Amino acid sequence: MSEKTYNPDFFVIKALEDGVNVIGLTRGTDTRFHHSEKLDKGEVMIAQFTEHTSAVKVRGDALIQTSHGEMKTL
Ligand code: TRP
Repeated sequence: MSEKTYNPDFFVIKALEDGVNVIGLTRGTDTRFHHSEKLDKGEVMIAQFTEHTSAVKVRGDALIQTSHGEMKTL
């Protein structure tokens, strides 16, 4: 994965309640949690998929914006 050409989109997660969890899951054969971020109401996280992170799980009431569209968890 060349750093010069690999430029993943950013996605945005906005917490609509306290205690929203944003969990990063590892890329590769072993899919496991590697990072958990807790957001309180109104907090925004702007992130990318990286060589370490291939999937993200969001728990709680949140607004998620990606290049594929916008969705609410609840
Ligand atoms: N160190 C992680 C990485 O580079 C940070 C990260 C990137 C992350 N995107 C994320 C953590 C999404 C949680 C959710 O992969």
